[in-house]
Amino acid sequence: MLPAMQDQKMGGIIDQGFDTVTLLERKKMAMFSESTRREFLVQLGGLGVILSQPQLVFGQQPLPTRMIPGTDESLPVIGLGSSKPVLEIPTEGTEPVAAVIRMLLEHGGRLVDTSPRTPDIDAEFGRVLAEPDIRDGIFLATKINTPSEETGIQQLEQTERLFGRRTIDLVQVESLRGLQSHWPRLQEMKDSGAARYIGVTVSSYRNFDRLEAFMRTGSPDFVHVNYSVIETRAEERILPLAQDLGMGVIINRPFMNGTYFGQVSDRELPPWAADFDCESWAQFSLKYILAHPAITCVLTETTNPEHMEENIQAGFGRVPDQTTKQRMRDVFSG
Ligand SMILES: NC(=O)c1ccc[n+]([C@@H]2O[C@H](COP(=O)([O-])OP(=O)(O)OC[C@H]3O[C@@H](n4cnc5c(N)ncnc54)[C@H](OP(=O)(O)O)[C@@H]3O)[C@@H](O)[C@H]2O)c1
Repeated sequence: MLPAMQDQKMGGIIDQGFDTVTLLERKKMAMFSESTRREFLVQLGGLGVILSQPQLVFGQQPLPTRMIPGTDESLPVIGLGSSKPVLEIPTEGTEPVAAVIRMLLEHGGRLVDTSPRTPDIDAEFGRVLAEPDIRDGIFLATKINTPSEETGIQQLEQTERLFGRRTIDLVQVESLRGLQSHWPRLQEMKDSGAARYIGVTVSSYRNFDRLEAFMRTGSPDFVHVNYSVIETRAEERILPLAQDLGMGVIINRPFMNGTYFGQVSDRELPPWAADFDCESWAQFSLKYILAHPAITCVLTETTNPEHMEENIQAGFGRVPDQTTKQRMRDVFSG
């Protein structure tokens, strides 16, 4: 079982083995002197917050990590899906994407997922990725998203050139497009060291059957799939299969590209969400995802560093158990 999941069950939740202080509490703590801060932590203990090791709190420890199966490498459990801030570079510049990456790095995050865009956009993004504090801190995942072998190779060459990298951490075939053409090339990249890991992505149920078939024959290092408290179907077959076959799992669409927030905008967060250290609807879906032991890392896409920080906090503290997960699904089934 994964280290983040192996701890004791605690009244309908699973302690991930990490201690959590809420954003609000952290802001309050910043106002206190060191001596009153210690006192405050003791008071929090009295309020039921798990603080067995008070020094290990959100904001003071790096994001929890999970092992990439079959390796001795681990990844922090929250990553950045960079599509929106990268596509907005022509209008908003590079500052927003740089700011969300830096927020991720500040909290010990590493995984930044991207796709090939226009050469102009990727040249700008490549300059961000070359910034000294970003360059060596991130685990870069990119994709081929074109059907033909020839254009796939051109995309990879563009990525290597504009991102200034001879080695890409993870190269994926996006939405299984052109998979038969691209996969031998990706295997060559892995053999030559140009890619450290190779994988495939889907973001829709319609590709699940093909994904499952490929997982059984293609031996990808990673599968990257849509999953959330509303889009739960991956837990039927894809996630157990990934566990059986020892594949890393990256999750997209935790917020269904933002439409999730439309479904919860007029609802109060259930008070029992506090039982698994959840204080926002964003964390509600992320905690649901992270409760599954197959998951290596959840991508959250955002242009907003505060949203990034809120999402990162979901990586700390307890996660819901199976009974609570059913209760969470029920919130959306009416
Ligand atoms: N086939 C594929 O390979 C594929 C397909 C889809 C996605 N992906 C990957 O997955 C990543 C995630 O994309 P997604 O479509 O799945 O997006 P998502 O993370 O489900 O949703 C993104 C939306 O949620 C909003 N958001 C994020 N955090 C929030 C918070 N704490 N509070 C309120 N709103 C918040 C963002 O708006 P703000 O900017 O305002 O925060 C944005 O509009 C992509 O960037 C990409 O890397 C891959």
